[in-house]
Amino acid sequence: MRYFVITGHKAATDGSFKLDDLAGGAGRMDILVRCVNSAFVMSHNLRKDAEIYLVLEGGEDAPKTVRFQGSTVKYLNPDERSTASLIRNALLKKVPKEGEISSSPGVFISRMSFDDVIDKLAKLGNFVYLKEDGEDCREFQFPENPIFVLGDNQDLTEAEEKKLLEQGPSTINVGPYSLHADHCMILVQNELDRRQAAGESNAL
Ligand SMILES: C[S@@+](CC[C@H](N)C(=O)[O-])C[C@H]1O[C@@H](n2cnc3c(N)ncnc32)[C@H](O)[C@@H]1O
Repeated sequence: MRYFVITGHKAATDGSFKLDDLAGGAGRMDILVRCVNSAFVMSHNLRKDAEIYLVLEGGEDAPKTVRFQGSTVKYLNPDERSTASLIRNALLKKVPKEGEISSSPGVFISRMSFDDVIDKLAKLGNFVYLKEDGEDCREFQFPENPIFVLGDNQDLTEAEEKKLLEQGPSTINVGPYSLHADHCMILVQNELDRRQAAGESNAL
């Protein structure tokens, strides 16, 4: 499995945002939508062995987490607008204090915070922090079930980084420049794909 966790520091936590205003009123939801695309969408195919956690931290009702599961997701298309609509439908649900509910096949919403997501995933895989000053990913031996953690247009906050570092993650960079989160995701996906094709990694 490949897991991705991305923090939407200002991302909307209610479903009142307009699909035409993802970068503005929805608190840079456009970034998160593109990350969903990078997690799953290939040419005429979807990655089944990926899962992404969008930690939404903007607005009065924060935090909330929307999870997309590649093995069961339906109605996921390459365009940003329809993916944003899947997120908005999740945010229109009444979310219980505990647990997760499904808003459409393979899309789930909960009140999990960043810390809750990290605690949950700690049992499922190995953390890999994507950071500009990390080790070069080309030299890196990817663990099984990597859990990639990255920021949106802002880096992780100090508190988020502290929480993640408590898990003893590997820290890697994907190249010499600071890139958009969704592009970083594609680069690690490609790195894993290449190693897998060469039989060097079982981190699918
Ligand atoms: C747009 S960047 C965040 C802001 C950016 N650090 C800056 O100073 O402008 C989004 C996230 O992508 C990841 N990232 C960006 N460039 C990277 C790189 N070269 N290697 C690894 N991760 C990177 C980091 O997790 C970062 O928080």
